[in-house]
Amino acid sequence: MMRLAPSILSADFSCLGQQVGIVEKAGAHLVHVDVMDGHFVPNISFGATVMKSLSGKTRMPFDVHLMIENPDKYAADFVTDQTEFITVHQEACTHLHRSIQNIKSLGVKAGVSINPGTSLSALDYILDEVDMVLVMSVNPGFGGQKFIQSALSKIAMLKEIKDRTGLTYDIEVDGGINLDNVGTVVSAGANIIVAGSSVFGAADIDARVREFTGKLKMIGEMPKLDSGEEK
Ligand code: DX5
Ligand code: ZN
Repeated sequence: MMRLAPSILSADFSCLGQQVGIVEKAGAHLVHVDVMDGHFVPNISFGATVMKSLSGKTRMPFDVHLMIENPDKYAADFVTDQTEFITVHQEACTHLHRSIQNIKSLGVKAGVSINPGTSLSALDYILDEVDMVLVMSVNPGFGGQKFIQSALSKIAMLKEIKDRTGLTYDIEVDGGINLDNVGTVVSAGANIIVAGSSVFGAADIDARVREFTGKLKMIGEMPKLDSGEEK
């Protein structure tokens, strides 16, 4: 299933509930919650209190992206009835396996993310444990950056591993996604699309979400190209 996850990092915090309401009504599927600590990434965003202020104000599930050091200490703070995913960075976890088990023990889905400079092979021994892999297509810390092309081959490799092994993790892509490149990341194999500035920076947020979801629907409905293999 294709899902659009607008990142509230680029929203207007003076009317956050209203802006989340707009994207929900327009057909977005998840609220992407970018948590930054000023240590793992060179920026500070917000914590669980801001996310929890949206509880009950939207029916969209929360997709929590922890760009923080020591995520084991803070993951539980982000668990609510609406939390679907909590994602940690491979680069921030000395004991990644333990961190993933910790998230699962909290009763939510566990995701793992890798930065643009990290090889996919860093996840070889955790892929069968995670519910989602988040491929960063910018260096985390800020919205509005340019898409880094090498994310495409990571997404394609993750999709190939899924198809070959039967693993069921979602593939999420985050950073620099716009209407011009969303088709490419979906074709490569991503099924959860994060979009921050291209959604909340639009003059008409409602129309922009509809454009995104329209594209996702169209791509999802397109017949797959015949691979030429014998059936
Ligand atoms: C980057 C964050 C992203 C960011 C995406 O550190 O993890 O979720 O908000 O913003 P855009 O879509 O503007 O690149
Ligand atoms: Zn993010």
